[in-house]
Amino acid sequence: MNHRSWMRSQGFTSEVFDGRPVIGIATTWSELAPCNVHLHRVAESVKRGVWQAGGFPLEFPAMALGETLLRPTAMLYRNLLAMEAEELIRANPLDGVVLLSGCDKTTPGLLMAAASVGLPAIMVTGGPKLNGKYQGTDVGSGTAVWRWEEDLLAGRMTQEECAFAEGCMSRSDGHCMTMGTASTMASMAEALGMQLPYSASWPAVDSRRYETAQRAGQVIVDLVEHDVTPAQIMTREAFENAIRVNAAIGGSTNAVVHLLAIAGRLGVPLELDDFDTLVRDVPTLVNLQPSGKYLMEDFCYAGGLPAVMRELGGLLHGGALTVTRHTVAENVRDAPCWNRDVIMPLGQPFQPAGTGTAVLRGNLAPDGAVIKQSAASPHLLKHRGRALVFDSPEAYHEVAADPDLDADEDTVLVIRYCGPKGYPGMPETANVPLPAKLLKRGVRDMVRICDGRMSGTAYGTVVLHVAPEAAAGGALALVRTGDWITLDVPARTLTLDVPDDELAARRAVWAPPPPAAVRGWTWLYTRHVQQADTGCDLDFLTGASGHQVGRDSH
Ligand code: FES
Repeated sequence: MNHRSWMRSQGFTSEVFDGRPVIGIATTWSELAPCNVHLHRVAESVKRGVWQAGGFPLEFPAMALGETLLRPTAMLYRNLLAMEAEELIRANPLDGVVLLSGCDKTTPGLLMAAASVGLPAIMVTGGPKLNGKYQGTDVGSGTAVWRWEEDLLAGRMTQEECAFAEGCMSRSDGHCMTMGTASTMASMAEALGMQLPYSASWPAVDSRRYETAQRAGQVIVDLVEHDVTPAQIMTREAFENAIRVNAAIGGSTNAVVHLLAIAGRLGVPLELDDFDTLVRDVPTLVNLQPSGKYLMEDFCYAGGLPAVMRELGGLLHGGALTVTRHTVAENVRDAPCWNRDVIMPLGQPFQPAGTGTAVLRGNLAPDGAVIKQSAASPHLLKHRGRALVFDSPEAYHEVAADPDLDADEDTVLVIRYCGPKGYPGMPETANVPLPAKLLKRGVRDMVRICDGRMSGTAYGTVVLHVAPEAAAGGALALVRTGDWITLDVPARTLTLDVPDDELAARRAVWAPPPPAAVRGWTWLYTRHVQQADTGCDLDFLTGASGHQVGRDSH
């Protein structure tokens, strides 16, 4: 009676307690997370589907992480969302859960939570914005910002033009509509089998986004009735599919840390090197910004992810199970492609195989670093240059406009103390803009090395996720301005050309930075966060606890 009576205060009739599945709808709606601001409407469509299928839907909030507003970085809170959602899903009397996400970290955070609980789950991402339109051309979220920022610094654009352009870029509900991290992670959720085919690409304002949400409401009831859990769907084969799909779509490097973290919750053996070795025979098929030309709306009209997965054919594990309770191969067998300039054929790809994410190692990154080759300049993939070192992105920004800065196009910019412990939270600071004096000379790229991340909407020859990070005593902390650094992407190496005995001497006088916090979440995070090569989860959150609670206090 306690449980039922209090629920009756919402006006439910007694039939809802007749034993039908109770479906939680975890929504990351918030006005502070503009990419997710329409999710309360998406939730209404999910509820329709749940009712239709004979379930009892109950919507509840999960921490909304807005990439653009949260300080110092939304990544600092991905694990907090995962922890909060996990406990909410487990502690409430739910039989299954629908995960509503959108902005970058909300998708992996909710998948990590669902993986650790193990109840049947389905994801519905909120969809991308419509294409940005500025001065007669399409402009992409984030990607255009980086370009405009450089144009502003170089004097090619005025502040007034920038202010007008920003409204033109963001003109509808939805997450970034480039193949940035949000679009990538939505695609990863679909490639993993955790959301319905086409879910990743319907624009946020497209009526078919809402149809898909309603369908997801029906499907979650089916998954509960057949007890299909995330662990049955997100297998090693599913992760291999996701990694290959990420290469084919030219997806974000952030998928590396997120997929590693999700796999860690499930006990699926997945390693950093998988993101290199598994994609060497996968060409980039999708011509989307930041690597290419088009945007997610075009991708949708061209056939979306099913068209890509069909094209990949034998490169994927076709027998992997999905939330439809059909296999990947069954889902995409008849998926058409309507625009071969957006989704190119396997035999005539946008970029050849071997141009995806590369994992680098060497004395500067013993535990690995990554580079997105498709976003890099080919002439810089083999490069030797002198280091110009900054202990924070802010320190670099202070001098970036200095006309006397000792840098040229061969310089290697090192931006450090940006890792999970260092900043803290591993922000997207690696793709710092080039020094103004080089931009004015028309230089558009140079090698940058960082223990932080790069926005999925960004581009450039940027070595990311260096592990161990500087704040954890990685070799990056020992680099000095003037040292020579050799980047050799074909050989997969990143080398600091300094003798071992000199590095040992530098290490002897190195001291770790003071802790970023002495209490609260940031204290807990920096004490327990793992390095980028294993996904930046907290050490005590890896693995799963199932959905049984210890004792019922009532
Ligand atoms: Fe939310 Fe890009 S800022 S998806």
